[in-house]
Amino acid sequence: MTLRYMPDAGRLYGPEYARDPQAVYAELRARHGAVAPVEIAPGVEAHLVIGYRAALDVLTNAGGFWSKNSGAWQARLPETPETGGVIAMLGYRPNALFSDGAEHARYRKVIADCFQQIQPHKLRQLVTEVSDSLIGRFATKGEADLVADFARLIPARVFNLLFGRPDSDSEGLVQALSDMMEADGETGARGSEAFSRYIGELIQAKHAQRGDDLTSWFMDHPAMLRTDELAETLVLVTAATYDPMANLISNTISRMVSDDRYYSSLTNGALSTYDALMEALRAEPAMANYGPYFTLQPVHFHGTWIQPAELVLVSYAAANTEPTGIPEELRSDGGAYLGFGAGSHRCPASDPAVLIAMTAIERLTSHLCDLELTVPRDELSWRPGPFHRALAHLPVRFTPIRPDQPGESPWAMRPPSSSIPSAPTSPARSADYATSAPWSS
Ligand code: HEM
Repeated sequence: MTLRYMPDAGRLYGPEYARDPQAVYAELRARHGAVAPVEIAPGVEAHLVIGYRAALDVLTNAGGFWSKNSGAWQARLPETPETGGVIAMLGYRPNALFSDGAEHARYRKVIADCFQQIQPHKLRQLVTEVSDSLIGRFATKGEADLVADFARLIPARVFNLLFGRPDSDSEGLVQALSDMMEADGETGARGSEAFSRYIGELIQAKHAQRGDDLTSWFMDHPAMLRTDELAETLVLVTAATYDPMANLISNTISRMVSDDRYYSSLTNGALSTYDALMEALRAEPAMANYGPYFTLQPVHFHGTWIQPAELVLVSYAAANTEPTGIPEELRSDGGAYLGFGAGSHRCPASDPAVLIAMTAIERLTSHLCDLELTVPRDELSWRPGPFHRALAHLPVRFTPIRPDQPGESPWAMRPPSSSIPSAPTSPARSADYATSAPWSS
């Protein structure tokens, strides 16, 4: 879909963009100002919002003409092999991310209420156990790819348990999600099928027997989601968790092990893991440009005319790194700026997300305190794609930990499957990481 006045759109796909997205944003900024024409796949154009003030205007719905519903835009987009991946990410679905007003508030309340049930100290314990069991798999080897061996596995395993499934199911979920991310159509389709099956079986199991877990809380929430809405909510939570969490964890580690200010914090605490997370959220936000919005009427916005059914993408990455300096009063989230979005669609799980990332990274760096990259950071490879800032690999080396070493080595910890009661739907589990639901009292 070619937008009528965008002859010199910047490219947000391909290896050049993946290598240095900030160079592309800088050029767009110089040529167009706060809103720039871009192509996110061959023939699929969008307005990229790269100014911080403009980004906030969209996210907080200044003027009241912004919508998240992608239906009208999608209807104009031809279905071709090039547009398939874009539609998978942006096509309308009845969930919080693509809805407005009362519908959005209903979906969002289910997610926000249920996430509030998770007690932080129990979540920390769960992430500690999952992290330690993963670290135990490679600690003796002296080298690892922290994307494949650690960052991607953390969210899948943690959320599989939070959904109320035994840890043994997590391998299947990990495989399905990683297949879904493959560009190769056949592998992607296989992953997609396996993921649908996982969600279907999860719902079936919880219909048969509730537990104290996210899925059961979603089901019993007073909003009374229909089964299709429940499935969409579980899909959204998994999708919103898997890639952003993995990217946040790996982007942060890559900064910590290649920057002296953080490197020394691994041993003597110069700057904390929290500082590194905030810096990664600001300068390299995991959901780099994944802020889709649409206008309800023609609007002249920060110097650009935008028509209904045209795609507008908020670039958290470009806005956060605007070189002119962002006024103090417009900042959100302390150091993270727009890394978790802003306004009514702001990430409802930013606190658990930070807690999960921080716990996982601290376990890793406390066990393997001399981690170092095997290649310079500027030679790391990044996954192409317009929406995320995602390392393809994070190769590191470290002094192997011998199993006979004294102290609390990772493999001496109980694996998560044994610390979570084996019958995940049993009432005994309620004391594990949950408080009782406020709507049930
Ligand atoms: C615990 C893991 C996470 C869960 C369950 C989660 C869940 C969600 C959900 C359900 C939404 C849609 C909210 C709505 O439309 O009202 C959302 C939005 C968002 N999330 Fe998260 N998220 C997680 C982690 C992350 C991470 C790690 C990042 C970034 C590093 C992130 C960044 C965002 C952003 C930028 C938005 C706003 C999107 C927009 O404006 O359209 N999230 N998240």
